Amino acid sequence: MAQKQTILVTGGTGYIGSHTTVELIEKGYNVVIIDNLSNSDKTVLDGIKKIIGTKPDFYQIDMCEPDAVKKIFEKHKDIKAVIHFAASKAVGESVEKPLKYYENNLISLIYLLKAMSECSINQLVFSSSCTVYGQPEELPVTENAPIQTANSPYGNTKQIAEEIIKDIIVSKAELNAVLLRYFNPIGAHPTAHIGELPNGVPNNLIPFITQTAAGIRKELKIFGDDYETPDGTAIRDYINVVDLAKAHVIAIERLLTSKNDRPLEIFNLGTGKGNSVLEMVKTFERATGISFPYTIVDRREGDIEQVWADTTYANEVLGWKAEIPLEETLISAWTWEKKIRNL
Ligand code: WQD
Repeated sequence: MAQKQTILVTGGTGYIGSHTTVELIEKGYNVVIIDNLSNSDKTVLDGIKKIIGTKPDFYQIDMCEPDAVKKIFEKHKDIKAVIHFAASKAVGESVEKPLKYYENNLISLIYLLKAMSECSINQLVFSSSCTVYGQPEELPVTENAPIQTANSPYGNTKQIAEEIIKDIIVSKAELNAVLLRYFNPIGAHPTAHIGELPNGVPNNLIPFITQTAAGIRKELKIFGDDYETPDGTAIRDYINVVDLAKAHVIAIERLLTSKNDRPLEIFNLGTGKGNSVLEMVKTFERATGISFPYTIVDRREGDIEQVWADTTYANEVLGWKAEIPLEETLISAWTWEKKIRNL
């Protein structure tokens, strides 16, 4: 039996991290998770175990502590690569709390990169975001689109993070990195053993919709219907979180088998299709049979008008494509919400 390769997943009890952990283990990898549980819960490990039968090694660590990660590398000398999810990720919140975002998202990355270098771990998959594009001039947006001034501190932290990684690679360090620019991850694992667990009032659209449908929130506030879009509400590219997780396994395999064409590769991970907020509301109602109250309010600070991905490069080079239909994805989100609320 070939020795299993071990991957460190930072932020692995988080939304995308937990779904990626499941896909990695199902593909035969060992996973070590570090997470500070600031926006997730240890019970996620029980959910992972229900799906794959085992619990990955887990350490509650704040990556802003300089040597915390290095201790994990010293304890798990078989770690071959890192997938770095750990970061704060709410666009709206980052406008209100910029310092939290710059500290948490950048200090943690710098300490991780230092520990990787000191322990000669040179394969990194980084959780980036379509927010690095700001409001693209052309749609769909490709990986070569100009990086514009970010519309939020969150987007800026992702831009700066990408620059830090690029500069390290230019310095001829041994590092190989794949930057994955996510569009809008939504939905839950089909087993409903893991899903999105936002702390407090959700910033993101889909958990707010499912909590409103569950009667936890009084109504959905739609942030603006005066955008230059067909129905006036903002457009995003909503991608199923399991499709997104599968792309991470492909990226890891690409690095571990040295299939990467260059030390830095960047991929858009979206569906290639945009949907407006109102379309998402209507699709949710149609798919689940559940309607819920909503009202139109002012635009949210930091929001862009519309973005959706050109996924040609990921399709051709990674051989990856988002496959799960939107209705199925919204049903998975609703099934998960009902499960965690015992509805
Ligand atoms: C989507 C749309 C809102 C809530 C997210 C992640 C970010 C990044 C990109 C990965 C917007 C509208 C929302 C609500 C609403 N992903 N909305 N009422 O801002 O596109 O960013 O995707 O890196 O991490 O946060 O996602 O779900 O907050 O908003 O009208 O109560 O829904 O205005 O148009 P966003 P979102």
